[in-house]
Parts: sequence; structure tokens; C-alpha cells
Amino acid sequence: MTQPTKGQAGFAMNILILGSGGREHALAWAVQQNPKTDRLIVAPGNAGIAQIAEVADIDILSGEAVVQLCADEAIDFLIIGPEGPLAAGVADAARAAGILTFGPSAAAARLEASKAFTKEICDACAAPTAAYARFTEAASARAYVQARGAPIVIKADGLAAGKGVVVAETLDQALAAIDDMFGGSLGAAGAEVVIEDFMAGEEASFFVLTDGTNALPIGTAQDHKRAFDGDKGPNTGGMGAYSPAPVLTDAIAQIAMDKIILPTIREMARRGTPYSGVLYAGLMIENGAPRLVEYNARFGDPETQVLMMRLGGQALDAMLACASGTLDKMQINWADDHAITIVMAANGYPGPYAKGSAIGGLNTLPEDSHHMVFHAGTAEKDGAIIATGGRVLNITARGDTLAQAHARAYAMAAQINWPQGFYRRDIGHRALAQS
Ligand code: GLY
Repeated sequence: MTQPTKGQAGFAMNILILGSGGREHALAWAVQQNPKTDRLIVAPGNAGIAQIAEVADIDILSGEAVVQLCADEAIDFLIIGPEGPLAAGVADAARAAGILTFGPSAAAARLEASKAFTKEICDACAAPTAAYARFTEAASARAYVQARGAPIVIKADGLAAGKGVVVAETLDQALAAIDDMFGGSLGAAGAEVVIEDFMAGEEASFFVLTDGTNALPIGTAQDHKRAFDGDKGPNTGGMGAYSPAPVLTDAIAQIAMDKIILPTIREMARRGTPYSGVLYAGLMIENGAPRLVEYNARFGDPETQVLMMRLGGQALDAMLACASGTLDKMQINWADDHAITIVMAANGYPGPYAKGSAIGGLNTLPEDSHHMVFHAGTAEKDGAIIATGGRVLNITARGDTLAQAHARAYAMAAQINWPQGFYRRDIGHRALAQS
């Protein structure tokens, strides 16, 4: 009898996920539901992840350390969550060691790690995006924005942990951002700056798996970037999300595939740096036309929490097909469902915040295919869950309608006892108003 091989039914796999956020908790939760999973290890993980998987404390930016852990634990499949290890070449190191890996090479991950590179790719394949110019010193950048006017968008070229984009509403804000970036506030990430025209419209996130040749859309979502209700306050990593995003209709998604995603995939392959992994496109949609805001080389956070809630265990099959170059044979079985996630963050976030406060009320919450609390910055101390980060919990629910998912998620949030944390009360407001 032929033995099943990696990725086939009947083959139980040892899987390693890299990362420690709500995104990785959601990935781990989905992967655990697939019968192909035998052992699941997450490095470094968090307190919620430790409840459903083994955790390992290694330096995930080190290809050598990751390859060593894969060897020690007989890992069959590696899933890389955050952008840091991708940009550091961890996928390259793992593939060179013969490990089946989900995540792009460092060369392909430049689509996230360099804003100027993304613009170069858009130029090469005529993908619609904002007009732009690149600068390596402040004086000419200042002159450019003075000539162009505001609103205008100032982007540090490199990875800046979500702090590298300033949407300047006034000329003074634009000039301050230029001085700040060239002044070294973001280190090497700000050594080059891309200045883009402001794009009006509604922004949404589009997630597509690609094995370098084939492409499979795996969902849409909309994130809430501002800290406070009414889209007020400072920008954050994301205070909540829902999926699907009604603004990204099937027709608009098809235009995005034809004009942006597929041309990008072909251009990356043509350059000898094929892109394999999830391509997360931030799209600005105006009058039915999508334009590219940015690419990310990884799943979104908190968008992954809602995508995984909808995809469940088939997410592992899709990632395996992506990593093994068989996406043309993969199909997603969509339910007619909706998911929403509410981020609970520490008071003060995205500015300074205290760590170490205890979070109560988690033990009595339902955890099933309609309700999940995905942890981000948490740890376990003396039997209690404590907050250790800015974004701490993702209260996530699924329903037949967005309104049902919304009611379930907010009912869970109300049961959590954490006076040192806060959350937005209006997650999903745009889509709820439309429905
Ligand atoms: N939610 C935004 C991001 O993941 O970059």
C-alpha cells in the first residue's frame, strides 16, 4: 500500500507556526481543527496559544534557530506569521534545509519590506496605485510636498512596525513627517521615503494565496485603524475587523485580481523572485475601482482572526497547497457567514501602557466555532492571565449575519473584567449601516 505523503489525507504532520500575536493564535486554532495536524508547536506563542498548542521560546528572526527547532521536533510544515522573520530570510533558510514552508522568500517579501520596491513593481506591471516620488534626503522631499500640497502621504521605505505611514492632512504635518523620518526616528527604515498622492475612497483588505503561479483568493476584511470610536484618535495596529468587507464586492475583487494581484505575481516570477505565500493587498476603492495602497507579505492582524473563524481547518489545506505548488487543485468551501473581532487593548495604547494587570472573566466564555477569544499580548502568571502587550485580546465571533456576529462578540466582551483595558464600541459600523 502506498503511504500518504506530506499534505495528503492520512498523513499526520508536525507543524510549527512562528509568531506570538492574535494572528498566530487564530492560525493555530484553525490548524488544530484539521485532522492532518498531529503535533502543533508555536514559537514563541502566548498564554492563549499555550492552551491549544506546545510553545517554544526561540529567536524567530534566526533562520538557524528555526531550522534547528524543525530538526529537533521533526517538523513537516512551517508557517511563518509575522513580517520580521520573512524579511530576515527565515523562509529561505527553511526551504534550503528541505522544510515545506508557508511564507515568501526575503526577496519576495520586499513587497512589504520596501515601499519603493512595491511602487517599482506597480510601475512595471501597470497596477493602479497613487502617483509617487522617492527621496533619500529631506530638502528635495520638502520641496516636492510644498509643490504638491496636502493631503499627501509620507511613507518610510522600510519596515517600521506600523509607524511608517503618515497620512498628512496639512503641509505642516507632511513637513514634520519628512523631518522626523530623515531625522532617524525610524532608524534605517526611514533612510528612503516614498511620497504618494492621497487616495480618497474606502479601504479594504484582500487576501490571496499564491504559489508563484496560481492564485486563490481567501477572503476580504475591513480593519479599524484608529484607537477610538468614530475613527478618532491615533493610528494603531488595528482595533477590530470584520469579514467579508461588503465594499469589496466580487466584481471589484475580480478587477483587483486582473489588474493588480495577477500582474504582480507574474512580474515577481519574471524577475526570478516568485512570490509564494499570502499576498495581503490593502486596496482603496473609489467609484467601483480598486487601487493598491500597499502590500503585506503576511496575514493581517486582526484580519486573520476573522478569516480563520470563517475558514476553520481548511486554512491548513490551503496553506499546504500554497507551499507545495498545488493551489490550482485547491478550492475554498465558503459558508454564507460573517465574522467580527474586537480588539481589547491596554489603556494608553498605542502610546505608553502598563503591563502586568490581571484579566478576569475569560474562563466562563464560550469557545466554539462561533465564539473565540484569541490572545495577543498575554502571559500566564500564578494561574491568572495577565496583559503583557498593547493589543491584548481579540474577542471574535461568527454568525449568519454581521449583526449576529456583532451581538455575539460584544456580549462576550461585556463579560471580560479588565479595568486596565479598553475597546471600541463601533467595530463593523460601516458594514452594519449598509446591511
Ligand atoms: N491590520 C493591519 C495589518 O495587519 O497590517
